Amino acid sequence: MNSRVDDLRRLISQHDHAYYVLDDPKVSDAAYDALFKELLEIEEENPGLITPDSPTQRVCGKAITSFKTIEHKKQMLSLQNAFTEQDFIAFDARIRENLQIDVVEYSCEPKLDGVAISLHYKNGILSHAATRGDGLVGEDVTHNIKTLKSVPLKLLGNNYPKDIEIRGEVYFPKHQFNKFNKVLLSDGRKPFANARNAAAGSLRQLDAKVTAARPLALCCYAVGYSSADLAELHSDILDSFIDWGLPVSRYNSIAIGVSSVMDYYNNMSRQRDTIPYEIDGIVYKINSIAMQNEVGSIARSPRWAIAHKFPAKQEHTTVAAIDFQVGRTGQVTPVARLDPVMLGGAIVRNATLHNMAEVWRKDIRVGDTVLVRRAGDVIPEVVSSVITKRTDLMHKVASPSICPSCDRRLVEVSDETLRCPAGLCCPSQLKGALEHYASKPAMHIEGMGPSTVSILVDEGMLNCFSDIYKLEYEKLLKLEGFAELSAAKLLDSINSSKKTTLDRFLYALGIAEVGKVTAKELAQSFTSLGALMLADIAELESIANVGPILARNIADFFIDLDNLAEIKSIQDLGLVISRPILKIDMISQILEGRVFVITGKFEDYSRDEIKMQLQQHGAKVAGSISSKVTDLIVGSNPGSKLEQAAKRGVRIIDLESYEELIK
Ligand code: IVH
Repeated sequence: MNSRVDDLRRLISQHDHAYYVLDDPKVSDAAYDALFKELLEIEEENPGLITPDSPTQRVCGKAITSFKTIEHKKQMLSLQNAFTEQDFIAFDARIRENLQIDVVEYSCEPKLDGVAISLHYKNGILSHAATRGDGLVGEDVTHNIKTLKSVPLKLLGNNYPKDIEIRGEVYFPKHQFNKFNKVLLSDGRKPFANARNAAAGSLRQLDAKVTAARPLALCCYAVGYSSADLAELHSDILDSFIDWGLPVSRYNSIAIGVSSVMDYYNNMSRQRDTIPYEIDGIVYKINSIAMQNEVGSIARSPRWAIAHKFPAKQEHTTVAAIDFQVGRTGQVTPVARLDPVMLGGAIVRNATLHNMAEVWRKDIRVGDTVLVRRAGDVIPEVVSSVITKRTDLMHKVASPSICPSCDRRLVEVSDETLRCPAGLCCPSQLKGALEHYASKPAMHIEGMGPSTVSILVDEGMLNCFSDIYKLEYEKLLKLEGFAELSAAKLLDSINSSKKTTLDRFLYALGIAEVGKVTAKELAQSFTSLGALMLADIAELESIANVGPILARNIADFFIDLDNLAEIKSIQDLGLVISRPILKIDMISQILEGRVFVITGKFEDYSRDEIKMQLQQHGAKVAGSISSKVTDLIVGSNPGSKLEQAAKRGVRIIDLESYEELIK
């Protein structure tokens, strides 16, 4: 029976591959179903025979309650963008200059507009699948990814690395998308705005059965971590993907030099509508892996690849009204309310007008026919008014003098930028601040999005951040939109968000100009909230990227007595801030396996600096001498550690040799 099970699994996988990857079915649906049924029956009678890579295991297990996180073995990078041919020409010139070569060979690929995914195969078996997340840590969506028939549960052949992360895009095929939305509409449910949202929504399901019922597909385009070297050309690596049974875009091609690359771009833009998935541009990658390694990467994106985006789509519509919105910081922004128009796969009803200076410069009036555009995720904007369609009925709007949310007199900050000075007393600013506080990169309180915040503020239940921690189950139940489960879930999420990190909390406070990156840098430098609260301007300015304005904003925030009282209340209500783990940017592994101890005083370096530098080259640093220690770095006035080290035969290194070592 074992061999029949093996045969059935092989046949089913082969048919899945032929149907979903090669788009070339070999058997009828009925014949396929018969094989599947036979395998299911054998496995049901002999559960001991079930293996994780069995095709019956694509949908298995109960719905999960939340997503776990997974650390990528290698960071998932994103791509730098080129918006014009000139941008690409400049990119190509930089590469040629960098590599000192006359012409570059590129792998040209469609840029799929879906959800990035990393598939981890161990010994050829799919072990995990994770979304991109912040590039370092993503969400575990293994249970859902397994339901995609184009994802091999086991790689074909045996010529693959033992441990490999495959990178690709999960997408909702175009023709299926329209059909699917029709079904949602006829069921009285809300349709998805575009195929990318449909892919993301379908993948982020707690119950794999829901994902299994969606026709998601996969396209692979890169390698993350690999335990073994692969081919020398990126295009050959993609060919190995095909050998391993992984789906790869049939539109990939090689182009040598700029004009050949531009031919590919023009050709693909012409065919764009006939391609079965949404694409928002072309990706060009240096084809030689050795050259890719030579040019390297910057923080979040490789220097060896670039995405050439298709131009933003534009449409005409009418301005029904111009309203004013007050944001979290009090800034008043004019917004055009538009007659709904389809743009880039989504319906657009509002477009930002940025500020009054822009409204006047573009001379946009209520009733005007306007050109609107959006590029990818970018908020839709009004490009221009169509003057030829203007009549006397269209009218200009005046700058508001009072806040549309709280009626306070607005102040003009600069250049037609208006601000409401009421701070958290203004309901709009309060709502914005609370939304920001609860958002994912800040305190990450699930279930506290804009509509919930709005209800809670309007009901008078939230007047400041600390009120979040005073919400009560019984009172929530009385509100519209809350049921037992949603109220309990919200309180649960509030509770678990109390354990947080310093950078999240700093970002959540919404101090002017303190974004995620600055919050991380501050957290790494000060390591505790207390230390940061006491820091003076000079100390703050000594941190990389903190200039005088930012330093003043931070210092002002922590002098304000109301802010201090609010932080104290939050802490009294259970906030626990863990110390940040210092992230080390690795430079090399030349000191791997060596364990250092540092002793004595150093004039040019702090101990922490030396520790960090050693770790950046793969060394471990210990606090005291033990049998594991291999080296001791000695400054002036060393203590007893020098003696202990000498006794144990530990290598002794002075400052000069240390400098030599890290050079
Ligand atoms: S390569 C190291 N190739 O575009 C480079 N990405 O902003 C890793 N994407 O996050 C990406 N099609 O989700 C690559 N043929 C393609 C792609 C592609 C779509 C996505 C991917 C990435 C984003 C870049």
